[in-house]
Amino acid sequence: MRNFIYYNPTKVYFGTGVNSQVGEIVGGEFKKVLLLCGGGSARASGVYDDVTASLRAAGVDFRECAGVKPNPVVSKIEEAIGIIKREGLEAIVAIGGGSVIDSAKGVSAGACYDGDVWDFYARKTKIARAMPFFAVATLSATASEMNCTSVIINEALGVKTGLTDNALFPRATFLDPSAQFSVSARQTADGGIDAICHVMETYFDGTTGVELLMEYAEGLVRSLMELIPAAIRNPRDYDARAQLAWASASALNGTTWAGHSGRGDFASHAMGHTLSVKYDTVHGESLSIMMPAWMEYVRADNEYAFTRFARKVFGVISPDDEASRGGIAGMREFFKSLGAPTRLRDIGVSKEDLPELADMTARVPIGVLRKLGREDILQIYRAAF
Ligand code: NZQ
Ligand code: ZN
Repeated sequence: MRNFIYYNPTKVYFGTGVNSQVGEIVGGEFKKVLLLCGGGSARASGVYDDVTASLRAAGVDFRECAGVKPNPVVSKIEEAIGIIKREGLEAIVAIGGGSVIDSAKGVSAGACYDGDVWDFYARKTKIARAMPFFAVATLSATASEMNCTSVIINEALGVKTGLTDNALFPRATFLDPSAQFSVSARQTADGGIDAICHVMETYFDGTTGVELLMEYAEGLVRSLMELIPAAIRNPRDYDARAQLAWASASALNGTTWAGHSGRGDFASHAMGHTLSVKYDTVHGESLSIMMPAWMEYVRADNEYAFTRFARKVFGVISPDDEASRGGIAGMREFFKSLGAPTRLRDIGVSKEDLPELADMTARVPIGVLRKLGREDILQIYRAAF
């Protein structure tokens, strides 16, 4: 186990009815805020009404910036920053899934900066100050509600990249599982797949001496594999939604990598982000395709973890080599059983596109368990085809 600093200052209000506390908590410190929303699901589910009613009751004035789209773009962040600066707003309340919360993080950094907000994502400068923001989480997937990462697309550059900075934790997160009764079967599956992949990205990164964390990770994956179908079977199953919400948050809130050599491998994520840039592929579906292909490519570099995973998660009892293959096949089958694509051709990618995908992904170094160059990346795309 490596040395580590564990830091997670986000205060989480979890459970039925917590969204009606937003006004009281936010209003304790701020009187003029930006409300950042997605494409309308929060209005349809009633979350928007609960939050705005509680803001009004607490005397919090708000301006709104709606229309953050899945695979969020930097131009929307710039629009929101403009509203904050023009109106002299003091804080941000984000209502939505990972895309809205990730955007709120960009807005929070950009609102306290005179330059171009993309400077942070391009690593040209560091965040000196960020505007406080609050998250009302409506989807179980990314754990953005409990971490300090923001993943954004720059449309002009054709890049999707992540920014991680301790200044970007939500001040507080409100997580009412019943606000997720309205999440579609497809989105429940995609979000759950993302959470499983977050656990696996860390699990397979090659760190040794972390059996405790491996047990924790295996438990998370096994639970997610039960909870996702349960929530799809009965979208209004409160306990399934609640446990799914906490499992997803736990999958990327720092608890799985404390003691690891870093924050995980995330090469599958990088290859998936390229699909989102080029084809607007939903994040979870980029992973149901890329993660098993990556696992097969690097399996020999961490036979111990791949074999152990197969045994502990899928109960595969066979010689090591066969077992580790069995674990990967099991995961691909599980993704398929949720209706997710597992091959590039399933989402209409053509074989001729693969070299360009490899070029786009190889612009920055990727991989921890194995460093992947352009040729490795191309081979993985080919295997995923
Ligand atoms: O836009 P609205 O109308 O709100 O609808 C959304 C959207 O269409 C809908 N939705 C959200 N809550 C709902 C709901 N529908 C019904 N009922 C509800 N309660 O779900 C759709 C997807 O929303 P989105 O926010 O895009 O999904 P997700 O939470 O999966 O976020 C994905 C984004 O997060 C990034 C991904 O790359 C992607 O851009 N990630 C962020 C990470 C982080 N911050 O740590 C790490 C991840 O690996 C990931 O990269
Ligand atoms: Zn992810």
